[in-house]
Amino acid sequence: MPALVLIGAQWGDEGKGKATDQLGDRVDYVVKFNGGNNAGHTVVIGDDTYALHLLPSGILSPGCTPVIGNGVVVDLGVLFEEIDALEARGVDTSKLVVSANAHLIASYNRTLDKVAERFLGNRRIGTTGRGIGPTYADKMNRVGIRVQDLFDEKILRQKVEGALELKNQVLVKVYNRKAVTVDAVVEELLGFADRLAPMVTDTGLLLTAALDRGETVLLEGGQATLLDVDHGTYPFVTSSSATAGGACTGSGIPPTRVDKVIAVVKAYTTRVGEGPFPTELHDQDGERLRAQGHEYGTTTGRPRRCGWYDAPIARYAARVNGVTDFVLTKLDVLTGWERIPVCVAYEVGGTRFDEMPMGQSDFHHAKPVYEYLDGWSQDITGARSLEDLPKAAQAYVRAVEEMSGAPISSVGIGPDREQTLQLRPLL
Ligand code: GDP
Ligand code: IMO
Ligand code: MG
Repeated sequence: MPALVLIGAQWGDEGKGKATDQLGDRVDYVVKFNGGNNAGHTVVIGDDTYALHLLPSGILSPGCTPVIGNGVVVDLGVLFEEIDALEARGVDTSKLVVSANAHLIASYNRTLDKVAERFLGNRRIGTTGRGIGPTYADKMNRVGIRVQDLFDEKILRQKVEGALELKNQVLVKVYNRKAVTVDAVVEELLGFADRLAPMVTDTGLLLTAALDRGETVLLEGGQATLLDVDHGTYPFVTSSSATAGGACTGSGIPPTRVDKVIAVVKAYTTRVGEGPFPTELHDQDGERLRAQGHEYGTTTGRPRRCGWYDAPIARYAARVNGVTDFVLTKLDVLTGWERIPVCVAYEVGGTRFDEMPMGQSDFHHAKPVYEYLDGWSQDITGARSLEDLPKAAQAYVRAVEEMSGAPISSVGIGPDREQTLQLRPLL
């Protein structure tokens, strides 16, 4: 039985939460393998809307065990706030397990994220300010604090001392902030230890044993391909591996166990924060996409930048992730345009690029080459099969599929669980 990877194909907010939720009752484990509470996944179940940040979307499926993998960075205050808020709404969170190797976001890393952005001025990334980048930097610099460190106060203290030696110099001398005391950090972290202890597990061992027993594991990515630290629009990226490769390193499941890679892709494009975005619209069409698609960040509330579908990006995602299935979302948002532009290539300084250019400067200057597809005006949110859609909407789906390098297995026509047209089974 399989391990499935589910990732975002664009710059995030493609509707990964909804897609994960839909598979939730058919999988045994849902694993978050990267990122932290920079993510924001909205899941709509009947009249209830849930906004998840740190918890895997599988937490809403009663039969499923949610796992926070080793590749995640965990803000413990946020973790327990999110658990308490779900419990208060009647969601059972008792199955949640957390990797002993996941790194912890300490208060000084939240501070550093915010002051570093201010320091960068117009070169800022537009981060979520949650301490994600500095915590991954600590991991790579080998001065990070991990979940397991909470259970040995002596070790915890040593590690916090080691980390603060340099951080306090930077906080005080570079950023003109107050130094942080070792005691305050240790006390804050230890305050969570007893509550966290029963959740902590060797998650890599747990998951590979589950696969050996024939159970199904869904690896749910946060962020997306173009926000990946290696394969995204660096430096305008997040600091983790959000592509399919990251699903293995971030969970402890080897690549040979992964059977499917599902990429969630919006029928148009959005982006939050700074960085290049060739099909971005600065006109009324952009405002209309934002309004019709409710494109405001789940995590920070920031208005999302909006633009047309970008096929070279989808092809890039298909290649980098080895996508077996696309889940196309938010087709309903495109209702009402007479013609819908779709970017099929770029033009940079008179040269045509059919794939993403190698160099960052070229991508910054890329102008979209558009093909125009027919639009439709009928409401499609009540459709139950692809054949129910107006011919032009069907043609849009098929044209986008043709351009994007992998088959489309489902089409989203609204936020509800039922508003999904299944073209081929995902599981
Ligand atoms: P994620 O971060 O990839 O999980 O995506 P977000 O939850 O941040 O943003 C996607 C938004 O679109 C959420 O509010 C979803 O409820 C909503 N959504 C998902 N699929 C569809 C769809 O097919 N149509 C519409 N109209 N909304 C959708
Ligand atoms: P989901 O999982 C959209 C963006 C931020 C910023 C950049 C770096 O909901 O798709 P960070 O705080 O991670 O260091 O910020 O990445 N970003 C996201 N954009 N969706 C997300 O998550 C994002 N997580 C981070 O806006 O541009
Ligand atoms: Mg989101």
